[in-house]
Amino acid sequence: MEAPDLQINYKWGQSLNYSEIRDYLQRESLVTIKDFPLNDDELQSFINHLGTPLNEKRNNNGKTVFDVKITQHNNFFTSIANSNLAFPLHTDCADFNSIPNTIGLLCVEAAHEDEGTNNFMLLTDLLKHLSEIEKQKLLNKKWKFRNQERSILSSENDNHKICYDRITMQSFSKLTPIEIEELNNLDKLFRSLSFKIKLKKGDLILFRNDVMLHGRDKIDINSQRLIKRIRFDIKLPSFAMPPDFEQ
Ligand SMILES: [Fe+2]
Repeated sequence: MEAPDLQINYKWGQSLNYSEIRDYLQRESLVTIKDFPLNDDELQSFINHLGTPLNEKRNNNGKTVFDVKITQHNNFFTSIANSNLAFPLHTDCADFNSIPNTIGLLCVEAAHEDEGTNNFMLLTDLLKHLSEIEKQKLLNKKWKFRNQERSILSSENDNHKICYDRITMQSFSKLTPIEIEELNNLDKLFRSLSFKIKLKKGDLILFRNDVMLHGRDKIDINSQRLIKRIRFDIKLPSFAMPPDFEQ
């Protein structure tokens, strides 16, 4: 699929309007800031203006900026994010009590042209492709995400959200052959609705983690690709806003 026209581009140095950026994120746009400084403190303070960053206790000693690069320890990758493997479309922190609703990725070292490209899928595109029966099934059936039981789709005041991470779902529960086939079909559907964005050095991309899935293509094992990741929560309106809503 083509990248959607809800991609908003800014350039570092032009006066950035935080409430405007927040507003685009609330409306589920992807926001890119070109030529962002390649500096963790700058990234952290920028995100502090938009929302509340999550401290990464699991892999990152409680810091908020996480280095996504190939990292091995005793010949094992330290996480899938730190491997060279393709990462299928997923939600970050699908097994957390509270899932951060937004992610920022700052490209410090770009991958080569044919590797490590980011993939995205919008929930709005998925909803257009699901029949009412398929939608109800995804709203009702609970799956195990480590210690959490969650449905893939949820809905509050007619606002839908998605939570999906095949690797976590499959790692912590024994799925039946029918369930595996169900997930294979979903993965195939998600892929068919996804679009690619190639990050360049200095691109900071901000996107919602609760209304889109993201992933990335395989990376060369010797790649110097380095992405700084920060997860955060922006305040969301408690009701659905039409696109031309004015406050
Ligand atoms: Fe991720």
